[in-house]
Amino acid sequence: MCALKVGVIGYGYWGPNLARNIFGLPDSKLIAIADLKEENLKRAQSLYPQAVLTKDYQELFNLGLDAVVVSTPPTTHYSIAKDCLTHNLHVLVEKPMTAKSEQAEELIELARERGLTLMVGHTFEYNSVITTLKKYIDSGELGQIYYLDIARLNLGLFDRNSNVLWDLAPHDISILYFLLQENPISVSAQGSQCAFKGIFDVAYLNLIYSKNIRAHIHVSWLDPCKVRRVTVVGSKKMVVYNDVETEQKLKIYDKGVEAPEYTDGFGEFQCNYRSGDIIIPKIHFVEPLRQECQHFLDCIINHTEPCSSGSDGLRVIKILEAAQRSMINGSTHEVIQW
Ligand SMILES: NC(=O)c1ccc[n+]([C@@H]2O[C@H](COP(=O)([O-])OP(=O)(O)OC[C@H]3O[C@@H](n4cnc5c(N)ncnc54)[C@H](O)[C@@H]3O)[C@@H](O)[C@H]2O)c1
Repeated sequence: MCALKVGVIGYGYWGPNLARNIFGLPDSKLIAIADLKEENLKRAQSLYPQAVLTKDYQELFNLGLDAVVVSTPPTTHYSIAKDCLTHNLHVLVEKPMTAKSEQAEELIELARERGLTLMVGHTFEYNSVITTLKKYIDSGELGQIYYLDIARLNLGLFDRNSNVLWDLAPHDISILYFLLQENPISVSAQGSQCAFKGIFDVAYLNLIYSKNIRAHIHVSWLDPCKVRRVTVVGSKKMVVYNDVETEQKLKIYDKGVEAPEYTDGFGEFQCNYRSGDIIIPKIHFVEPLRQECQHFLDCIINHTEPCSSGSDGLRVIKILEAAQRSMINGSTHEVIQW
């Protein structure tokens, strides 16, 4: 089997990481890179002198490519991905897949009609720490899951064409689906527009799942500290994934509390706290983006559905839309129609 011929569209901040992985994998050949900015193409040329470099992504349609990776700003994903699918190219498009759910539905249908792979870059689904965390949840070791809490905070990067919800929360919403394997029943959200009027730079989301499981997401472009943390609290154990740690990213705490039978007398209300060992599992870590790119190639070669398929992209957009409505309407409780 010959290596798949791949083009990268969008070579700003994230595109170079995709190009590096596509270049480095034996199942793909990096044939071309498109970006509107001359300086970005110059950067690409120094690393990939063999690649065709162009400001016009439509030139990629004449190069006999098999697939493209789209890493342009989110508002352009729909039109570029649609154009590429129409030219019979398999597409890996960055998150969020589109700006509207109708656009995502259209791309899914187009890919289905043409028998093409449509995948969205929900990178954390290819992260070994997250897959290890899922194994702990699925094994029942944590007990009944009470709640999940995710924080993704830092100072910047502000984007006047987006907001913090659409920029950062796609990661967390996709992590929640990956871990729980179910859609939330409803979402409510609160947002603040601190630094610039009209741009939400801080957001808090509350998602309600079946069995009364709650998930909280806090995303911010306006925080003094970089925080990348997922906490899962169960009736038996608790887990923290701290992505800012260089090692020991996942810790399983044998901690919990057992409430005694309720009595009227406050003095008799004594909880039984448990604080046991902390386990730090050894995780073989491979760059998640490399695993994501390899998965895209595997799906094309084997005609299989990606883990982060177009439908997963659509699911995330529907939740973002509901959360955005809630933020605008004063934290309304939005039931999501699935
Ligand atoms: N998966 C992740 O962890 C991750 C991380 C960062 C960004 N992203 C996503 O990657 C995408 C790009 O983000 P970024 O931070 O690199 O943005 P960026 O603005 O730094 O880069 C986007 C690039 O696209 C180029 N571009 C715009 N329109 C184009 C067109 N029509 N043809 C060719 N090039 C075009 C721009 O010139 C720019 O260089 C976004 O969807 C973002 O959400 C994902």
